Amino acid sequence: MTRFKGKTAIITGGASGIGRATAVQLASEGCHVIVADINFDTAEKVAKSLATDSIGFKLDVSSEDGWNDIMKCTEETFGGLEILVNSAGIGFAGDFEEMPLAEWNAMMSVNLTGTFLGCQKAIKLMKKSGKPAAIANVSSLGGLVGAEDLAGYCASKGGVTLLTKSVALYCAGKGYDIRCNSVHPTYVDTEMLDPIADAFGDRQAMLDGMASQVPLGRVAKPEDIASAILYLCSPEAGMVTGHQMVIDGGQLAGMPAQHSTKGE
Ligand SMILES: NC(=O)c1ccc[n+]([C@@H]2O[C@H](COP(=O)([O-])OP(=O)(O)OC[C@H]3O[C@@H](n4cnc5c(N)ncnc54)[C@H](O)[C@@H]3O)[C@@H](O)[C@H]2O)c1
Repeated sequence: MTRFKGKTAIITGGASGIGRATAVQLASEGCHVIVADINFDTAEKVAKSLATDSIGFKLDVSSEDGWNDIMKCTEETFGGLEILVNSAGIGFAGDFEEMPLAEWNAMMSVNLTGTFLGCQKAIKLMKKSGKPAAIANVSSLGGLVGAEDLAGYCASKGGVTLLTKSVALYCAGKGYDIRCNSVHPTYVDTEMLDPIADAFGDRQAMLDGMASQVPLGRVAKPEDIASAILYLCSPEAGMVTGHQMVIDGGQLAGMPAQHSTKGE
């Protein structure tokens, strides 16, 4: 498939998990990728493994200077920008009353400020590039509903949900051909779950427990989320903006059965 032939994408958090899977899928459809991550060595390894001419870039998404640098590099290397995927993210779980301010601030700066800066800087280069463009922000189910032990994470991801809609309306209102959407995954089996797995002591048991909350009976793979991101950034989604795409195996669709007829 060549839906993205000749286009250029920046993917934050591209060294791992959902960002890496998105980089692989976009490149396999002809897109040049700037694999942007705070972890440069892995970002560069991912970039070198891709099917197109792609590069790694060391970016701390919470740094405005970093965003200015990556936009300059993107323009100089590939001549413009058509796609931004804001996938970099961090999460800390714990008791709300004990949550350290430093953890709250870190989640806000990476998850929310990082996405804000990315959208703001990308729009400028996308406008200059003059081609149809799209932004996909990786929020979470936690950007739509709260969680007992994830208040800071949910607050940051809820911010991403409404930032996305506001950016979509801003671009539409200005007449820019730039769409902006968010994706909201359930549990995804990536490195982000490692600390929970360590605390749990048995990764498979943790995944099984998570899967039991999902009507489709499994946690998501990074590729499940990447496929949705590709759709939202593709020409097929040309009429889709400000949308919150839930990828949760039915988790938010409703409540589990309260009564069973089994055995009756
Ligand atoms: N894994 C899940 O269960 C899950 C569920 C819902 C949403 N999400 C969201 O999906 C996104 C991707 O997560 P993932 O599961 O692929 O996790 P991951 O840990 O595999 O990947 C996250 C990447 O972000 C990078 N990163 C962290 N801080 C950064 C910074 N300041 N600047 C640049 N890069 C930075 C990390 O180095 C890493 O490569 C995150 O925004 C996360 O909140 C994950």
